[in-house]
Amino acid sequence: MNQGPVHSHLQFGTVTADPPVFLAPMAGYTDPVFRAICREYGAGAVVSELASAEGFVRGSGGTARILETFGEVHPAAAQMFGAEAHSVARAAAEVERSGAFDWIDLNCGCPARKIAGQGAGAGLLRDVAGLRRYVETVRASVRGTLSVKTRIGYCEQDDPAAVACAAEEGGADLLIVHGRPATKRHAGPVHLDRIAKMKAAVRIPVVGNGGIAGREDAERMIRETGVDGVMIGQAAIGRPWIFRELLPNREPPVSTGERCAVIERHLRGLRDLYVRSGLDRDRAERKACSAGRAHLAGYLRGIRGRRELMRRIQGVRRVGEMLEEVRRTVD
Ligand SMILES: Cc1cc2nc3c(=O)[nH]c(=O)nc-3n(C[C@H](O)[C@H](O)[C@H](O)COP(=O)(O)O)c2cc1C
Repeated sequence: MNQGPVHSHLQFGTVTADPPVFLAPMAGYTDPVFRAICREYGAGAVVSELASAEGFVRGSGGTARILETFGEVHPAAAQMFGAEAHSVARAAAEVERSGAFDWIDLNCGCPARKIAGQGAGAGLLRDVAGLRRYVETVRASVRGTLSVKTRIGYCEQDDPAAVACAAEEGGADLLIVHGRPATKRHAGPVHLDRIAKMKAAVRIPVVGNGGIAGREDAERMIRETGVDGVMIGQAAIGRPWIFRELLPNREPPVSTGERCAVIERHLRGLRDLYVRSGLDRDRAERKACSAGRAHLAGYLRGIRGRRELMRRIQGVRRVGEMLEEVRRTVD
């Protein structure tokens, strides 16, 4: 019997991830429809793209859109970022009260200059005592479950255990660790030995992230670090069925028909979501096409004629037309 690498569940705070395989937050990709699709394929929990606490408090439409949901997708986290702990605490408490999400995740690892440069995201890793106080401040406002998604350090020289302890002492219920330092962004080697140090330094559960593209990588992450769960990012783009591939006894290869059905569901779902959020039909169609193009490049990886198709759909502004082009290439 093929058990798959992860066949238990993970309880953290009031949340249960079953299986303990998480979809990573990815700005521009993990929209509410994609989160729903990944959950159906077997992701045990999903996380929203990063949402600005300041934007939320100001009532920005863009932030509100990030924190929209699509159907009942649980368990799901709202990921918040911000440099100022009290604003993040306020926004997190409000999001929690809305009841749309099951827990709050704090982004303490984004390396983008406009975020880390302001002292948010990975900028918080430059001062671990400050990181502990930051988490503590948010913890004081969040009644339910709180996780911290972070890295092994800002740069290669940082002490990963100190980062883990800061999150735990600040009151996080779960630590999610991307095994690359912030200076290496989303590529390069994943330091499993440093994730293992973080796991050994704390009592709260730890989820390992970075470079997991299939069953063997997930097994290796768990075996070499002792983490309680894994998180998958880039490998899920255009391949949400990766979560099914990790489940025990369920590995049917994805058929062309299934791939097309997922693409259709995703693009139509995005359009419906935008209509529901108040855009008129034309704008919703255009926005769904633009967001969908990024996903299509992934969904059609390995398909003959992909490059030509991507060129043809550049100017397409209606979902139906885009799907027609996809079918013509794939059939
Ligand atoms: C396009 C892109 C967008 C991302 N956006 C976020 C984000 O909004 N919040 C976050 O915590 N991490 C973000 N990440 C980092 C991922 O969550 C993940 O930690 C990283 O990609 C490593 O995992 P992987 O090797 O499985 O992709 C992003 C990564 C990529 C590639």
